[in-house]
Formats: sequence, structure tokens, C-alpha cells
Amino acid sequence: MCSADAPVFDESGSAGAQAFHTPAMQEEVVAFLLPGGGGIWVDNTLGGGGHASLICARLSPDAIFIGIDRDPRALEAAGVALRSAKCRVFLRRAHFADAAGVIDDVRRQLGEMEAPVRGALWDLGLSSDQIDRGEGFSFADRSAKLDMRQDPDQTVTAAAVLNETPERQLADLIYQNADERLSRRVAAGIVKARPLTTMGELVDAVLRSLPRDYRQKDDVLRRTCQAVRIAVNGEFDQLQQSLADLGGLLVKGGRLVVLSYHSGEDRLVKRFFRQGRIDGTLEVLTPKPMRPDRAEIRENSRARSARLRAAQKL
Ligand SMILES: C[S@@+](CC[C@H](N)C(=O)[O-])C[C@H]1O[C@@H](n2cnc3c(N)ncnc32)[C@H](O)[C@@H]1O
Repeated sequence: MCSADAPVFDESGSAGAQAFHTPAMQEEVVAFLLPGGGGIWVDNTLGGGGHASLICARLSPDAIFIGIDRDPRALEAAGVALRSAKCRVFLRRAHFADAAGVIDDVRRQLGEMEAPVRGALWDLGLSSDQIDRGEGFSFADRSAKLDMRQDPDQTVTAAAVLNETPERQLADLIYQNADERLSRRVAAGIVKARPLTTMGELVDAVLRSLPRDYRQKDDVLRRTCQAVRIAVNGEFDQLQQSLADLGGLLVKGGRLVVLSYHSGEDRLVKRFFRQGRIDGTLEVLTPKPMRPDRAEIRENSRARSARLRAAQKL
């Protein structure tokens, strides 16, 4: 397992960013976010800085780019990728629910309290670096510890959620976070197998809990892991808070662009945009979510479940 402060890259620029994570729907992100000119641009999910490099390349030197991530390895990789950016770059290790505070700090630091927020991007979920580094994000890695924290300083781990949550609550969590219809069976199987310490033990407990026909496919396993990861990282609360805050901070004509990777996230974004339309604060630019085309999925299979939604401040 990599330590949080292990060196990430000696590669430079966008090649290094791509090695850390290949950004999904790059052209569509740029087309909807419309980065350009000055003002403040926020990437709430910096990752390896792939989308950030595309954004910064289009900004003028007086623009302020703020990149946020809670994973220290992401900050390190993005720092390399953005080394030659011509705009003013501020990279902060933070949870994006605190984006408003980060923006306030940067404005204060620059003495530019009136600098308008013109665009905000969320590329939700996991970076490829997180999936590949053996911290329990992938159920293919049986020996991985049940960790799943994107922020290594956070205390709650997947093991804590799986071993300490009462059965009924665990079933609700699996149902609510991942729409898993077999949540009660799965929760009962997990409770029976406690204490769980490795991904392999979780996989076996989930598979044993399922009717025979369901054991051949990965779907229930995938959704169970997703539900636990969402709980460990507080993903829905984080998203709700940051959409509300940035939606409020955005200047007229400013853009919100969100890439989500499962129906729970997408539903939340859709509802937020719909409410904005009803309140007259947002124009929804994507009546239906955009999906990556076949060529992109062939090149980057991890982009296959991406859905892009965008809105403009009225
Ligand atoms: C799919 S990756 C983003 C990849 C990035 N767009 C790129 O081009 O490399 C998602 C990133 O968001 C970060 N992240 C997810 N939820 C977060 C949150 N609530 N606060 C801060 N960072 C978060 C993860 O740590 C991860 O690095």
C-alpha cells in the first residue's frame, strides 16, 4: 500500500495527469464549463489534474484557478500537471463541502473579495490511482484491507462501517446508497461473517448471502462496495452541500458541470438542477445527461458509466 506522502510522479504535464487518471468526457466538460478569461474557476475534484490542465490552458493570466481534493496524492500529482499553467493556481487539500470557505480564503489572500466565481466542476467518484492502489476500493483485490477512505486522515473506515453498523441500518445503507434490492440478505450475510478485515472476506460474505443465480455476476458486489464507500466518505452530503454553496456563489452566466458515475449521485444533481430551474436561479443545459461516446469507452473503459449534467446561473 502506498503511504500518503509517497512520491507520486516524476512525469510532467498532462502525460503525468493521464497516468494518474484519464479524465472522462474532456471535450464535453470544456464545451459546457466554457473556461476562458478571468474570474474564479473551481475544480472540486482535482484528481491528477487532467480536467484542470484543460481548464487552465483556456484561462487568462489574471484568472484564479482553485483545485480541491481530499486525497494528498491527488494534490501532488495535480501540482506536477499544472506546473506550467499560466493563470493563478491555488491547490487545496479539503473536502469539497468546504469549497465556499476555500474560495473565501483565496479571495482574502489575494485581496480580491469581489472576484466572481465563473465556473465549477465536479468529476465525482474515484481516481484510477485510488482504484489501483490497494486500499479496498476494488473488490478484485482480495487481499486489500477494508479501508476505502479518500482522505487518509479520516477515522471512519470501511471495516468500521461493515463491522459496527447494526444489521438493519446496514441494509438501509446498502439500499439507499446503491439501490440494491437484495440489501437485507447482503446485510445479514455480512453480520454473520463478522469481523471482516479484508476485501476477500467481504466478497465471500456477500456471495454466500445471494441466491445461486446471482453469484455469477458482480452486480450485487459492486453495488455493496459502492454503498459502503459512499457511507465512508459521506459522498451524498458532500455533494449536496457543495452544489448548494457553489450554486449560490456563482456569478450570472456562470456554469456548474457535474460528472457522476452512478444513479444515486446523478439523481441528486438532477434534483438540484430541477429545483434551480423551478426557483428561477438556474437554466438546465442538459435536459438529459450526456454520455461518453463508444470511441471514448473503447479507449477508457472506466468512463463508461459517466453522465454529465450542466447548468447556467440566471
Ligand atoms: C474521478 S477523480 C477526478 C479526476 C480528475 N477530474 C482528473 O482529471 O484527474 C475524483 C477525485 O475527487 C476526489 N474527491 C471525491 N470526493 C471528494 C470530496 N468530497 N472532497 C474532496 N475531494 C473529493 C477524489 O479524492 C478523487 O481524487
